[in-house]
Amino acid sequence: MKKVLITRPVPEAGIALLREKFAVTVSDPPMEPDRLRAVIPEYDALLSMLSDPIDAALLARAEKLKIVANYAVGYNNIDVASAKKHRIWVSHTPEVLTNATAEIAFALLICLTRRILEADRFTRNGRFKGWDPLLFLGDELCGRTLGIIGMGRIGRDMAAKCRAFGLEIVYYQRHPLSPEAEATLGARYLSLDALLAEADAISLHTPLSDATHHLINADAFSRMKDGVYLINTGRGPVVDEAALVAALRSGKVKGAGLDVYEFEPAISSELLAMPNLVLLPHIGSATRETREQMALLAALSIADGLAGTPPVNLIPEMRA
Ligand code: DGY
Repeated sequence: MKKVLITRPVPEAGIALLREKFAVTVSDPPMEPDRLRAVIPEYDALLSMLSDPIDAALLARAEKLKIVANYAVGYNNIDVASAKKHRIWVSHTPEVLTNATAEIAFALLICLTRRILEADRFTRNGRFKGWDPLLFLGDELCGRTLGIIGMGRIGRDMAAKCRAFGLEIVYYQRHPLSPEAEATLGARYLSLDALLAEADAISLHTPLSDATHHLINADAFSRMKDGVYLINTGRGPVVDEAALVAALRSGKVKGAGLDVYEFEPAISSELLAMPNLVLLPHIGSATRETREQMALLAALSIADGLAGTPPVNLIPEMRA
């Protein structure tokens, strides 16, 4: 029987599907990188997490491995060139997490602009002494401009949600959308510099690559409007966290909503100490529905891969 390794528990539906055909090992507690490297030669398929480094050294030892099914839409944790070299398929879980992740990006935006968490802390601390015309004044979303960097599925869903709240949408990515798609979304393409200068709030949805590492650095912050809001639900290293701390301190950035961190899971003590932030533990896709769909999709990819057919949701770099 072919052997499948899952590096930490995922929703049961996906595990059950795999158990119908394969010998499945679920590592609990989560598998450490050294242990993963030690045991990988035994396995035919791997269901990995975005936190598992699937690097060249690991893939070189994976003599039997046919497929790595990453339990995430992003796969920057995988050395794709090495996987190609060793003829190992890589799949991911797009589509099913689009709405959940866009919801969390929107939640971060409105939490910041309407100061929801600050007001919650104030109320719980017994400081609410009656209605006050000047209490917790925030910024209204309607009529403001949202800049979306990375207009893939999640960026487009964020655009649609924000349009419904009356925001104007501008976006940047390497290639503009078609005029039809822009018209449907009501979104306007700008160069990166123009977007940074025009947006009242910026939401990051770009994958992490060499080109996007520290895309938002001190220079980028200097081009932004004073008092801009920043939302990051993509990948932490897209933002230079030290530069973000400086921009928050100076007031250039009025507030930031972060679901991901440059040195995840570590979060700098400076960020933790600042009041004008909403910090989440990478829960963009964390709804029951979505996580179950992700588990099923990863399991289906493995079933395909072990049957010798290209898996559903093969990553774009591996498609013909
Ligand atoms: C992803 O899928 O890449 C998210 O960051 C986690 O669900």
